[in-house]
Amino acid sequence: MTEKHSMDTFVSLCKQRGFVFPGSEIYGGIGGFWDYGPLGVELKNNIKRSWWRYMVQERDDVVGIETAIVMNPKVWEASGHVQTFADPMVDCKQCKHRFRTDDLKPDDKGTLKCPDCGGELTESRMFNLMFKTFIGPVADDASVAYLRPETAQGMFVNFDNVLTTTRRKLPFGIAQIGRSFRNEITPGNFIFRDREFEQMEMEYFVMPGADETAHDEMIEARMSWWTDTLGVAKEHLKLREHAKEELSHYSKRTVDIEYDFPFAGFAEIEGIANRTDFDLKAHEAASGKKLRYFDEASNEQIVPFVIEPAMGVDRCFLTVLIDSYAEEQVKDETRTVLRFAPHLAPIKVAILPLSRKDTLVPLAKKVFEVLRPQFMTQYDDSQSIGKRYRRQDEIGTPVCVTVDFDSLEDDAVTIRDRDEMTQERVPIANLVTALRDKLPGC
Ligand code: GAP
Repeated sequence: MTEKHSMDTFVSLCKQRGFVFPGSEIYGGIGGFWDYGPLGVELKNNIKRSWWRYMVQERDDVVGIETAIVMNPKVWEASGHVQTFADPMVDCKQCKHRFRTDDLKPDDKGTLKCPDCGGELTESRMFNLMFKTFIGPVADDASVAYLRPETAQGMFVNFDNVLTTTRRKLPFGIAQIGRSFRNEITPGNFIFRDREFEQMEMEYFVMPGADETAHDEMIEARMSWWTDTLGVAKEHLKLREHAKEELSHYSKRTVDIEYDFPFAGFAEIEGIANRTDFDLKAHEAASGKKLRYFDEASNEQIVPFVIEPAMGVDRCFLTVLIDSYAEEQVKDETRTVLRFAPHLAPIKVAILPLSRKDTLVPLAKKVFEVLRPQFMTQYDDSQSIGKRYRRQDEIGTPVCVTVDFDSLEDDAVTIRDRDEMTQERVPIANLVTALRDKLPGC
């Protein structure tokens, strides 16, 4: 992305091409909830697969789990979320709009006014972001439960289960991908701030004293995933150290990875926190169950420290989409192209018969059947070949395979590269191997 495009460009591309739709759209939508379309779900799954591969599969010190969204409400008391997971909020007395106090800028006299109508605001008060629900048929205080606002607590409460079943030695990590919910006061900027979203988090347990080095190493590893694995441009990313006063209640040090978004400049896409022994100690105290690691060297039971890389899938989706987007002049027309890394592209290969003539269709369909089990493949025979190339460029398909009249004679097809727009003739017999070379990691 050399030039900044407006968010409207991305919202409209996502809607038109089937990446993201407003949630419950036929009823006028619902703020902070989004639905992922046929291409969106592919991109999202590819992002999750890439993270899992990097954080679990390729490491011998990390295991994955999947825990329930609704947990015993005592979890959220012990974790501090019932008391402190809140944002300051004000209402406009005139237009009744609601804002996060820390999003507002004071006027020349140092007074906060409604940014929409200039009206007077109420006193700022704290608003807890956890969604409440009730378990069972009676909706009373005794049946209150919460939709989890982070996946992390699922890892902490299962610390002992994982330790005893896997017989791990420190350092080791537990990773999870799953839905989280926050009743954000001002959701917005498309899928940047949602009320329902997905998180990918890892709790990395280390010996106390080894935490600071482990934290630095994790920051480096996470940054390298964004740049080297996802292909996000280095110059659009930066690290930001949290100031003491903004640290979460559990954190000794937090560093955010930020991306340069068109709507806000640099904003958080991932947080890497040193959560110390806060959570394990808090759950020990509240549950009465020991959450300890036996250190054979010192013959002592210890409470490990925790390094936590935490990120949102939806925010990563938006980052990858924006960073891959380009508008280029090709002869006298503009082509829109999403330069996704091949392993992220929703569709890897498009099969495009040059014409719909009966003579070409059987061979094109045969090629389609060969490729479909190997790669996410799309068959497209409507409109001119030029229009079909543009359509595939716009959804980020790295390779198009064209079946033409010569194919009937030479049993070969043309493969066209999305980025270079170069074309190469390949025998059908070698097609899968040739595509494997062009689509690493797919
Ligand atoms: N367990 C720590 C934790 O949840 P966080 O900084 O509150 O930390 C981690 O959230 C990541 O989750 C963020 O960097 C962001 O990518 C994503 N995230 C948080 N709130 C979000 C929201 N309302 N909508 C979309 N993504 C969100």
